[in-house]
Amino acid sequence: MENIEYYKKYDERYKTSHSQGIAWTGDKHSKILEKYLKDISKEQTILEIGCGEGQNALYLLKQGYNILACDVSENAICWCKNRAEQEKLNKDIFFTLDILEEKLEQKFDVIFSFSVLHMFVTNEHRDKFYKFLSNHLKKNGKAIITSMGDGEISFTSSINIDEKVSNNNITTQKLPCKIASLNEIKEEINRNGLRLKNAYISGEIQGFEKSIVVEIYRN
Ligand SMILES: C[S@@+](CC[C@H](N)C(=O)[O-])C[C@H]1O[C@@H](n2cnc3c(N)ncnc32)[C@H](O)[C@@H]1O
Repeated sequence: MENIEYYKKYDERYKTSHSQGIAWTGDKHSKILEKYLKDISKEQTILEIGCGEGQNALYLLKQGYNILACDVSENAICWCKNRAEQEKLNKDIFFTLDILEEKLEQKFDVIFSFSVLHMFVTNEHRDKFYKFLSNHLKKNGKAIITSMGDGEISFTSSINIDEKVSNNNITTQKLPCKIASLNEIKEEINRNGLRLKNAYISGEIQGFEKSIVVEIYRN
């Protein structure tokens, strides 16, 4: 792998896929999202971290929610803006941001992040992810985070992987990940000064057989 931060390498995957006009992930929003919408008003501010190809943010935008969505990948954000334009929606809600290195002025009532946490392999990066949540949630604000895993398995793949992965006939570099157990995730939440409200295992997250879902509050 080239010498750039491993978590930025999804960009190459999107570039390969999008150059052929194909979405890597698809365009269906996570079913799990709907479960939380009944408790969110249209006035509340929402941020999606690691929005990828935008299927969740676009769904929220169409429903009239007050959402901003970021991703470290420029190719992903370009794809999202194009999709928003095609659907005559506001493309300016999408912007590039490395949440491990950058911050926003604004704080939010709700933060969603689907299948991003497991991309952070080192403790330093994982702690930065939680710190971003704590710095960008309003008091009593809520974050809904999903991470690949069945709650029991704990596994960290090497940052230097020399394998390929295919989806929709597109083949790209396999990327490292950390599948943390639910106990590990609870420990991370505590040590970063956040409060766990609820945790469960779901099969409704696109692309993954099982995911851990955690609802986190800022104290
Ligand atoms: C497995 S994909 C999930 C994308 C999308 N949430 C979904 O459910 O389809 C992980 C995403 O996290 C993004 N990401 C990785 N590191 C990031 C960072 N430091 N800041 C913002 N986004 C990041 C990647 O570019 C990628 O789009």
